[in-house]
Amino acid sequence: MRIGVLTGGGDCPGLNAVIRAVVRKGTVVHGHEFVGFRDGWKGPLEGLTMPLGVTQTRGILPRGGTILGSSRTNPIKVDGGVERIEANLRELGVDALIAIGGEDTLGVATSLAAHGLNVVGVPKTIDNDLSGTDYTFGFDTAVQVAVEAIDRLHTTAESHHRALIVEVMGRHAGWIALHSGLAGGANVILIPERRFDIDKVCDYVTTRFASEFAPILVVAEGAQPLEGTMELQTGELDAFGHVRLGGIGQFLEREIAARTGYEARQTVLGHVQRGGTPTAYDRVLATRFGLHAADAVNDGDSGVMVALRGTDIVRVPLAEATGELKTVPLERYEEAEVFFG
Ligand code: F6P
Repeated sequence: MRIGVLTGGGDCPGLNAVIRAVVRKGTVVHGHEFVGFRDGWKGPLEGLTMPLGVTQTRGILPRGGTILGSSRTNPIKVDGGVERIEANLRELGVDALIAIGGEDTLGVATSLAAHGLNVVGVPKTIDNDLSGTDYTFGFDTAVQVAVEAIDRLHTTAESHHRALIVEVMGRHAGWIALHSGLAGGANVILIPERRFDIDKVCDYVTTRFASEFAPILVVAEGAQPLEGTMELQTGELDAFGHVRLGGIGQFLEREIAARTGYEARQTVLGHVQRGGTPTAYDRVLATRFGLHAADAVNDGDSGVMVALRGTDIVRVPLAEATGELKTVPLERYEEAEVFFG
């Protein structure tokens, strides 16, 4: 069998570990051949390939990013996109695809599988917001990066008696904010799933200062104030219709300073959360996903995604993974609220 591999959407620590495991198991154990598609769905759409064998995947386990490149190209939005992909795969003699991606990349994989293409998905996102799997690789690394930042910010916040706001990624799901905030001892955590009351946030800031400590606020980029209380700016849309966010930290900086009289400063972690070497946990999870994806293709399975359930890797229908985002349940957020203020 000749199998194509692609990585789509925002990059994520552990992508190379998946690619390495897919190729190693697929070649050495199952005897298949691989071709790399460059830059997400742009690769199959435009026939952009690169050689992908055991040689090309040596030494990449700890490397961040993806050797295949990535993009947010949405072939479903391109006129005749699906037909072009089918034709290119036929011409290249590709029998099956392994698509490593998040909600958008796997959404395209779901549509292509429905068109009769052989596609197996591997869940990837630092946001941990894909349904069907307990965790995605990349999330642990992103949380680790954020916690290291929070630990450092605690000491400088206290030296200067400032409220420090840490803006982390998470457009629709606050998993990174919740986990890094809990692990880093944040005094306020704001997530997209729960609109915040700015007066309450300022109360937490004041209470924290009254205890002789300086507050750290961890805020997901998609967090929103209670309706009608503060106007937030919105950004441009990408090919999947997602708004480019950012700015909530700056907004809070201004509001907290104006309302409490304490100095407030923001730190936006941004793409630092996505770059660099994966944690050991992410390397292991990514490797196991890769091994099982190679098995799924070898078994002739299609329209499925490998997923983590407890400590087992299982296969779930792609549609299950992309149907609905896995957001933070209210009761999980309430666990963290005990430490606010
Ligand atoms: O989906 C992963 C993610 O890192 C989100 O947390 C973030 O909102 C988005 O990608 C940023 O995307 P880009 O790098 O394309 O601006």
